[in-house]
Amino acid sequence: MAKPKTQFICQNCGTVHSRWAGKCDGCGEWNTIVEEDPMGGIGGGPGKVPKKGRAVALTTLSGETEEAPRVHTGISELDRATGGGFVRGSAVLIGGDPGIGKSTLLMQAAAALSRRGHRIIYVSGEEAVAQVRLRAQRLGAADSDVLLAAETNVEDILATLAEGKRPDLVIIDSIQTLWSDTADSAPGTVTQVRTGVQAMIRFAKQTGAAMVLVGHVTKEGQIAGPRVVEHMVDAVLYFEGDRGHHYRILRTVKNRFGPTDEIGVFEMSDIGLREVTNPSELFLGERNAKSPGAAVFAGMEGTRPVLVEVQALVAPTSLGTPRRAVVGWDSSRLAMILAVLEAHCGVRLGQHDVYLNIAGGYRITEPAADIAIASALVSSLAGTALPSDCVYFGEISLSGAVRPVSQTAQRLKEAEKLGFAGAVLPASSSELPKSSTSRWTEIEDLPDLVSRIARSASRLTNPQEDD
Ligand code: TYD
Ligand code: MG
Repeated sequence: MAKPKTQFICQNCGTVHSRWAGKCDGCGEWNTIVEEDPMGGIGGGPGKVPKKGRAVALTTLSGETEEAPRVHTGISELDRATGGGFVRGSAVLIGGDPGIGKSTLLMQAAAALSRRGHRIIYVSGEEAVAQVRLRAQRLGAADSDVLLAAETNVEDILATLAEGKRPDLVIIDSIQTLWSDTADSAPGTVTQVRTGVQAMIRFAKQTGAAMVLVGHVTKEGQIAGPRVVEHMVDAVLYFEGDRGHHYRILRTVKNRFGPTDEIGVFEMSDIGLREVTNPSELFLGERNAKSPGAAVFAGMEGTRPVLVEVQALVAPTSLGTPRRAVVGWDSSRLAMILAVLEAHCGVRLGQHDVYLNIAGGYRITEPAADIAIASALVSSLAGTALPSDCVYFGEISLSGAVRPVSQTAQRLKEAEKLGFAGAVLPASSSELPKSSTSRWTEIEDLPDLVSRIARSASRLTNPQEDD
């Protein structure tokens, strides 16, 4: 028999290498390559007799379809992120940093579901039964009928799940602790994680139970991250947040049964996660409207408008190379806005440090925030506060033009709802709602915006003066 060949697999991105190396070519991470045995697990490996194939009936795209049957948790922020509840027979991956609150969220969801009469099985591979019980008591979930097991072996878990009535929802916390007898690698490696997840998905598809898999995002590469199984599951949600802040966002990045880029917003309290149905109020909570360098961005998260404050600080530098520090926004996009300000508006920031922060530890991914960021920067440089009842949105192109963004009406509606009477937005925006009380300021390009701020400040100092 041929000598079984081992493979070297990057635990971060799953790239297969023929020999060990310190650095993975696939993702550039160091010390992430681990030797694994490809025999067993997914793919089977050499030596197995292939079974003769069976022809399946081909069909057409049109035909009867039915709405995917779902289990609703009743936690509306969670249902929103999953697209209306967990789909029966599907597998959902919930990823996130350790300690962010994944187990807390799922324990609350499990309790809510079991109170609605569903059969829920919670398999904890990380915590002992006593620890899970303690958490359940804190969350007020201890009186629910959630069935609990502390187990990590895939075969044992499957045998447990197969016993008794079919569960409606199974929670596996976490995939990194799963290990199967059929795969030879150590627990936590790509092969083990994939084998375990594959087995769980198969169980979900066969029985129609909804499967929720928890995966830790890992920094060090010795444990496979949730990335390596993203392609196998039906939906991928990431639970995000900043340790220094209380709020958490459940973000959909893949969903075969619903929209992506939806978010659910929660706040971590001492009795677990609380739903935040109006996130704008959370991100605008501690606003100081009088300070320069702050602009409110009217953003969208999926179908939902979110207003957040953008804060900029521009200060003369004492270093040879000025600092650019960004939290919650793409730093290369900041560099682009600075370049456009310099090239087209004569706003020179080469001798200034620039600090940019998105309030509340929130992370903006939309280019529509360009205008808000440019306004905050100019406001800070000019030392003058922007109107406190005004929101900003619009994308800036390299030519300095301001491009319209989608969902203008929703953004303006949310702003009006929260008492913002003004908005600065791209000139060619369509679907502008008629309003007698609000002022919309339509701007053509970035120089237009800068000169408006400069005029309202009237004492915008020329940053060139001091060189
Ligand atoms: P946990 O759900 O265990 O995180 P994960 O499963 O993602 O690793 O949450 C752990 C953190 O949440 C921990 O630091 C304590 C905090 N927490 C609260 O603040 N309030 C609570 O009611 C609970 C249960 C946890
Ligand atoms: Mg946990």
